Amino acid sequence: MSIAQAPNSLQTDAFRKDVLEGLTATPKRLPSRWLYDGEGSRLFEEITTLDEYYLSRCESAILHENASELAAFAGADAILIEYGAGAGIKSQALLTALNAPAAYVPVDIADEFLSCTLERFGGRFPELPICPVVADFTSDFDLPPLPSSGRRIAFFAGSTIGNLDEGEAVELLMRMRIHVGEGGRALIGMDLIKDLGTLAKAYDDRGGVTAAFNLNVLRRINREIGGGIPLDAFVHEARWNPAERAIEMHLRCVYSFSTSVGGQVVRFIVGETIHTETSRKYDLPRIDRLVELAGWTRRGTWNDEKCAFAVVGLEASQGGESSALAAST
Ligand code: AVI
Repeated sequence: MSIAQAPNSLQTDAFRKDVLEGLTATPKRLPSRWLYDGEGSRLFEEITTLDEYYLSRCESAILHENASELAAFAGADAILIEYGAGAGIKSQALLTALNAPAAYVPVDIADEFLSCTLERFGGRFPELPICPVVADFTSDFDLPPLPSSGRRIAFFAGSTIGNLDEGEAVELLMRMRIHVGEGGRALIGMDLIKDLGTLAKAYDDRGGVTAAFNLNVLRRINREIGGGIPLDAFVHEARWNPAERAIEMHLRCVYSFSTSVGGQVVRFIVGETIHTETSRKYDLPRIDRLVELAGWTRRGTWNDEKCAFAVVGLEASQGGESSALAAST
């Protein structure tokens, strides 16, 4: 999730509220979106290049190796709408594969990423209209007027869907259905359930980059809302939650202390953890259940050679609008 957030007062208020709520709850928690300040986004980009973090590598291989099938699934003159586009790294392979795409619509909360995408893609795809949208894809937003050409394709890469809880994921998938309209399709990258050794290494790499990524949120709290949390009081922990079928990131407290955070005294007890992120992992029944709740049917599945990761192709279910709405009420 590439969401580098420059602090502004609205963001800081929302951050303070989430931090105070989360650190005074039992067990302690922080929403994962706050992991991505400038340094957090930089560390996440570094994670995607690590040997242990197979997700990005596998997804990229899937997009390259199945280019012609993916292009056929999208159809000619498609409009590609990418949610959480970041710097557009993941869509580049797909756009190269597509047959005469009619437009690219990168959606991201960080406008600096979108400017960078505009610049890079302007050189690489000089004929392609690019219609950037600055928006938080986890809330409702409208698309700008788009060419009335081929199909609209929603693209959500990187298994970022796994960082959303089921309700949020269904809401986003429903939003995508509205955005792509009748006949539209979606391509979603999803990480698959696998042996725990591989998962543990992916979320706790030898070089400590994931640990630094996780611990960075404490630095952000101290800096942005005023806190005295000692960084040496926490260690990174990645653990498998079998009930959720998810890897969770936690910060484990190694000695007890009290400190002021955002003007409020907070007590931390040795052994307790702050839950900072959930990365849900999928198998096909879980994927089908999720997408069907949002009114989609899975029509295609592309895997890497080890079946570590999947890119699934979705089509709106017949009568899906009404059944999706019924499921969500
Ligand atoms: C952005 N997201 C899909 C990553 C993941 O794998 O859940 C974030 C991440 N957390 C630790 N490493 C990478």
